[in-house]
Amino acid sequence: MTVDIAAAAAAVGEALPDRPELLLVLGSGLSGLAERVEAAVEVPFEAVPGYPSVGVAGHAGRYVAGRIEGRPVLIQAGRFHAYEGHDMDVVVAPIRVAAALGVGTVILTNAAGGIARGLEPGCIMLIDDHINLQWRSALAGPLVGDEQRFPDMSEPYDRRLQALSMQVALELQMPLSRGTYAAVAGPSFETPAEVRMLEFLGADAVGMSTVPEATVARALGLRVLAFSMISNRAGGMGGDDLDHAEVLEIGERAGVGLEALIRGVVTRMEP
Ligand code: HPA
Repeated sequence: MTVDIAAAAAAVGEALPDRPELLLVLGSGLSGLAERVEAAVEVPFEAVPGYPSVGVAGHAGRYVAGRIEGRPVLIQAGRFHAYEGHDMDVVVAPIRVAAALGVGTVILTNAAGGIARGLEPGCIMLIDDHINLQWRSALAGPLVGDEQRFPDMSEPYDRRLQALSMQVALELQMPLSRGTYAAVAGPSFETPAEVRMLEFLGADAVGMSTVPEATVARALGLRVLAFSMISNRAGGMGGDDLDHAEVLEIGERAGVGLEALIRGVVTRMEP
């Protein structure tokens, strides 16, 4: 299935009060920020032509457009994953739509399994590089619009935005590690042998999203910043299992920290 980007962008754009500077994609358990934007306008994915209707939790997702500390942002709560059976061009359609709306910066968030020592549930990791283990590229196929055919990926995540994030975290006295995110196809979690392999390859955290979006964003020339919220130790490395309530509580606390961090970055980033 292909999404008509111009039609989708027209439908979203029509509902927006002003041109957003930034797309913020909220991963699982991180939708709190969408509740706290000023002058919010909501666009459910169902209202966007070409977007599939049902996502991982049985609801597709929504856009919330508004302002964070005065700056016009487009928040995307929910995303399409390849493991749901979506074609890659559906997975990355929201990035292309955001670019068509004039967004210059993309902030991606996700929930991920911690591999590196010290990346425990509740930690936030600034993604400074990634490994694509989804066995396909979101860019494969006919060239789309003005995208580069062979985008440079020597610096997929914007160095200045990373530095600003570290600075904001320091000021908030919030621990923020940085590391490499490995994207796997999923949807099963990793076996212990796979986790050992990922560690050997240099991955600090593992998840099932973000890399296709970051790749297309780079092909479009957008600045990318990305964070993982560590929701669990990657398969077979967790020791004692946490109970579910504990996991939720950890997620909520980490979500609050990540929200403060993102607010700080959005307030101070260059346009
Ligand atoms: N593995 C893959 N994806 C994930 C994980 C994990 O452990 N946790 C959250 N998303």
